[in-house]
Amino acid sequence: MRILVTGGTGYIGSHTVLTLLEAGHDVVVVDNLVNSSPEALRRVGELAGREAAFVEADITDEAALDAAFSDHSPEAVIHFAGLKAVGESVGIPLDYYHNNVAGTISLLRSMDRHAVRTIVFSSSATVYGEHNPTPYVEKMEIGAMNPYGRTKEQIEDILSDLGASDPRWRIALLRYFNPVGAHPSGRIGEDPQGIPNNLVPFIAQVAVGRREKLMVFGGDYDTPDGTCLRDYIHVVDLAEGHVAALNYLTDHEGVHRWNLGSGTGTSVLEMHAAFEKAVGSPIPYEIAPRRPGDLPAFWADPSAALADLGWSTVRTVEQMCEDHWRWQKNNPMGYAPS
Ligand SMILES: NC(=O)c1ccc[n+]([C@@H]2O[C@H](COP(=O)([O-])OP(=O)(O)OC[C@H]3O[C@@H](n4cnc5c(N)ncnc54)[C@H](O)[C@@H]3O)[C@@H](O)[C@H]2O)c1
Repeated sequence: MRILVTGGTGYIGSHTVLTLLEAGHDVVVVDNLVNSSPEALRRVGELAGREAAFVEADITDEAALDAAFSDHSPEAVIHFAGLKAVGESVGIPLDYYHNNVAGTISLLRSMDRHAVRTIVFSSSATVYGEHNPTPYVEKMEIGAMNPYGRTKEQIEDILSDLGASDPRWRIALLRYFNPVGAHPSGRIGEDPQGIPNNLVPFIAQVAVGRREKLMVFGGDYDTPDGTCLRDYIHVVDLAEGHVAALNYLTDHEGVHRWNLGSGTGTSVLEMHAAFEKAVGSPIPYEIAPRRPGDLPAFWADPSAALADLGWSTVRTVEQMCEDHWRWQKNNPMGYAPS
């Protein structure tokens, strides 16, 4: 197939573009590079032995999207483009709603004009909010707790309404849990700007000497070791989940939602220990006060993705840490020339 990937130079997008190219699909990436580097796509081309086409454009720019659809004639879209920092979304909610929600509406209008009605969307476990018991199941009522999460929830609603309005749409809403790790080559990986918001990139930057110590937010939760539990998923497993969802949509109309997670909770201290093992030396840390809005523990019930897509995670926490570390060690400053 020919697939248009928005946000395809980003962390999850670049791994998915590589997986798509390896599976024999043709890819055109649309990205405005607000949080990524074109170097990621160059390296993806190197690893795959063939290039994805690249259009530098903003998804809120419908004319640019129309040109990309006319020039490249994709048959389906995987939609990663979005802003994703929870804390930032609280300070600048309008930017988040404009970029994520209005950007998605532009994309869907452009898709409709070009009769492309198959889309896989990056949603998030954050839509489950604070009231659902873990593990999370797709049929639960959702209710995000911050502007970022609400952009995901609103886009899910828009896509559900769209699917209900016209049976030609084929829509997959993928609720990711906590993506970590990197391609095993160590050539592509996560390259956060500024202070990382997520645990594993933070640990990796401490390990490589860019930061002094890991701050563990909260050591007194009602969990086995007092730190938060999350469901970590290797980014290559996640990329493969997108190909599985796309395959499913080739013979299923309608709107479908799946959790993409491992089904297991891992604590902050367990992840820290696994990363120390991968690095082979101690990584300093300090227990700091809890962060507002952090839930003590959640993980996925991934059984629907297994039943419908034949997909489940296959890579372990150890592999996540080894692969993430290989990427960080070989690229201490990410894609920036060091
Ligand atoms: N990484 C996670 O922990 C996580 C978890 C759940 C969901 N998600 C979602 O998955 C998607 C991909 O996440 P990621 O971690 O790869 O993030 P990322 O920031 O690395 O990738 C997002 C990409 O989208 C691009 N982009 C943003 N706004 C754009 C716009 N208006 N027009 C064109 N391009 C734009 C950025 O430049 C970047 O390349 C996001 O939608 C994110 O919300 C991520």
